[in-house]
Amino acid sequence: MKIAVVEGDGIGHEVIPPTRDLLGILRPDFEFFEIEAGYGKWQRTGQAITNDDIAMLRDASAILFGAITTPPARDYQSVILRIRKELDLYANIRPVKGTRVDLIVVRENTEGLYSGVEKIEQDSACTVRCITRKGSERISRYACMLAARRHTLTIGHKANILKSDVFFRDICVAEAQKAGVPVRECYIDALCLDILLHPDQYDVIVTTNLFGDILSDVAAYLVGGLGLLPSANIGDKFALFEPVHGSAPDIAGRDLANPIAAMRSGSMLLAHLGDHEAATLVDQAIEQVLLKGIMTRDLGGTAGTGDFARAVRKELERLVPNR
Ligand code: NAI
Ligand code: MG
Repeated sequence: MKIAVVEGDGIGHEVIPPTRDLLGILRPDFEFFEIEAGYGKWQRTGQAITNDDIAMLRDASAILFGAITTPPARDYQSVILRIRKELDLYANIRPVKGTRVDLIVVRENTEGLYSGVEKIEQDSACTVRCITRKGSERISRYACMLAARRHTLTIGHKANILKSDVFFRDICVAEAQKAGVPVRECYIDALCLDILLHPDQYDVIVTTNLFGDILSDVAAYLVGGLGLLPSANIGDKFALFEPVHGSAPDIAGRDLANPIAAMRSGSMLLAHLGDHEAATLVDQAIEQVLLKGIMTRDLGGTAGTGDFARAVRKELERLVPNR
């Protein structure tokens, strides 16, 4: 099975190699192939990702992705947005699991304010927020499918102000009713506070692209920060797994990054390919290492990225013979 690996930029180079190692231990049949993409490549070659790179991504059974630096420059286009669009990875699944919380943010991943319809002029700039029936139906169906296995669906929106969110909300409510899933709704700004105050009351939350991006970073507060949160970008044909965090230039190259978010993304990749047993082993290995008190600095520990990754690898190798 072919697995594409894109380390990207910054801490992507530190958290993805140890994650690929874990997958390799569990699945010797995986054939990894590297694709260079990102700001570093753009600086070197003038192109952050090529059409050939995209074609190679289409050739993989799954993609393991680090993070890519996107400088706020006029002539630079986000690589991850291009990949999500070209591979039509419409569902961004962001589980947030901790002692006080077990929720999943389901973020629409191809349209909304990230549709790419924008212009910048001398004295004004405009970004169009496109919400389509097709986009809203498929994301709400995906969220309902997850909610049906759990409890409630919450719709996060700003329909009091935005007509595009009245449209989105109505479609989500209709899909939830069809699926027989209990549904409630909340204004996104109030929701950002309420998930912090009452995290146990949330289960599956569906929302539009930018709101989901913000909400999942807010939710990271509940579990100890961005270093812990994995995500899946799912389409009908392709799937990409990446930590929620970015390339973290402030800590890149200093052995400070927490590799758990990337490793848990690897676990989601295994589960997506049907190997739930291997996925559980990755999660267990991480938990065992944390239980021993080995933690990176963002969690209050002293372990470097390399120390932590080696500890997880050792733990996994201990668990694997029992497989
Ligand atoms: P960020 O997620 O890279 O960093 C935010 C803060 O969290 C920083 O203080 C960072 O040090 C910390 N942090 C993030 N991951 C961590 C980890 N694994 N361990 C310990 N600390 C961690 O977000 P920021 O600073 O807003 O963006 C940096 C760059 O990443 C930007 O160019 C942005 O466009 C890009 N980005 C890329 C994403 C992607 O490729 N999917 C997603 C988010 C941001
Ligand atoms: Mg984000």
